[in-house]
Amino acid sequence: MKLNTFPNPEALAEFVAGTMIEQLRQKPDSVICLASGNSPKLTCAEFTEKAKAEGLDTSRFFFVGLDEWVGLEPGTPGSCANDFQTRLFGPLNMATSQYHLFNGLSDDLRQECFKMDEVIRVKGGIDLMIVGIGMNGHIGFNEPGTSWNNRSHVIKLHETTTSVGQKYFQERKTLDQGITLGFAHLLAAKQVILLADGSAKAEVIKAAIEGAPDEDFPATVMQLHPNGIIAVDAAAESLLTPKNS
Ligand code: F6R
Repeated sequence: MKLNTFPNPEALAEFVAGTMIEQLRQKPDSVICLASGNSPKLTCAEFTEKAKAEGLDTSRFFFVGLDEWVGLEPGTPGSCANDFQTRLFGPLNMATSQYHLFNGLSDDLRQECFKMDEVIRVKGGIDLMIVGIGMNGHIGFNEPGTSWNNRSHVIKLHETTTSVGQKYFQERKTLDQGITLGFAHLLAAKQVILLADGSAKAEVIKAAIEGAPDEDFPATVMQLHPNGIIAVDAAAESLLTPKNS
């Protein structure tokens, strides 16, 4: 795993968007997986703008959604599906055949998980995965204590996730369960970038990088990925122990 630091969120977004562009230049039919939430927002804007400006072929890549809140309509502002629609599918005019998302409204969530795992398998695995980090160290909805061997699964969300998660919604939502890709997918992805900006993320970034790999702090899984990058801005980096101390 590598650590890349950037002076500000804009430079961070430019790097991550640039990595997505390069991935598609090299392999236009790449499989790309992205988190929703605040962290990748600037990245998506930068990516769609640059892709359009340079006439990048975005008609052949396949997108996989990292996770979803169980019980939300896909059109709900703040749902993962809605983020993907407004940030990527709409701006890039993507065909519905170009993406697969978890349906958090399904009455058979186990089947949703099988379907997702099968789609990823048939597509040949994930080329580039871009994730955020939660205030309890989660990635996707892989909460503390989740096995690193999991593929897609349904999970009871921790209190931190359900309370912090209210920030995405205009009115209070009942958030109880999530459906998410697992760390078996992350560890098998060819490249993974975890991005974080802002001082609120400084403590969890420190724990992710300086803590021993431990399922109780999910983001430490990044240390096990041979082609993993933790990409942060100066504020998120601020609590790291200086190299020479
Ligand atoms: C969202 C997701 C979550 C977020 C994490 C950070 O799809 O997978 O793990 O990445 O909670 O959220 P933000 O980026 O809003 O701080």
